[in-house]
Amino acid sequence: MEIITDPRQMQAIAEKLRLNRQLIGVVMTMGALHEGHLSLVKLAQQSAGTVILTIFVNPKQFGLNEDLHRYPRPFELDVALAKAAGVDYLFAPEAGSIYPDNFQTTIECGALGERLEGNSRPGHFNGVATIVTKLFNIIKPHLAIFGQKDAQQLAVIRALVRDLNIDVTVVGAPIVREDDGLAVSSRNIYLSGQARHEAGVLYRGILYARERLAIGERDLQAVASEVSRMISRAPGFTPDYVVFVDEESFEEADSALEGKEYRLLLAVNTESVRLIDNAAMSA
Ligand code: PAF
Repeated sequence: MEIITDPRQMQAIAEKLRLNRQLIGVVMTMGALHEGHLSLVKLAQQSAGTVILTIFVNPKQFGLNEDLHRYPRPFELDVALAKAAGVDYLFAPEAGSIYPDNFQTTIECGALGERLEGNSRPGHFNGVATIVTKLFNIIKPHLAIFGQKDAQQLAVIRALVRDLNIDVTVVGAPIVREDDGLAVSSRNIYLSGQARHEAGVLYRGILYARERLAIGERDLQAVASEVSRMISRAPGFTPDYVVFVDEESFEEADSALEGKEYRLLLAVNTESVRLIDNAAMSA
């Protein structure tokens, strides 16, 4: 595995790979690699001849009071995990080479980036869209794999690719969960023992909602409120939002139409940690 830090060198390698008809798959991360990231690498390897993993803690997607400075950066461990997973190139640029002093252009995501996660984290998705676009231009991938855990991020990236005619296939990969259903995340290490013990409540909420729809409940708002109350009963857990969205438009949905796909989205604060999760379900 080759480690590249210079964007121009990465771009030159990508250009050469394309000239040699290599199918390039990219997995973009902020490091602190876990089973979820490694499942994205595996998925990329199934279709792409060359897999490039990126590690970059993107300052532009963090709000002023968020965890940019304490975000875990176990670089040596990440290198070992990426190597063991069979990654071909690890692209890990310095912030200064991605955002030099004269940097001034950002991508505006529009309404989709301002709802839900975007409402609680203003500017977050513009920061994500900007770095993802830059990484697309540097890595020139044919295929880009993103986890479904960040469902709104995936929807934002699909819209970005569609709206800006970016020539890449975006693939959403299934959520990887711990034994109690907690979605794996680099931020789970912030949870205290007590909060970690309670955190399976998000997944229990998802299972409960799925069951309610399966037995014929069509009032999505009522189900979302029940899930929210269920989570609030866990000591120290405060739901930010629990809502259903239409799987295609990502618009909030209050009642279900027969045969349509919806996605339940959850964002919950506990101690100073924000947990997000989601699941698709049909009526
Ligand atoms: O999902 C993430 O880890 C980040 O938002 C991404 C896509 C790597 C952009 O910084």
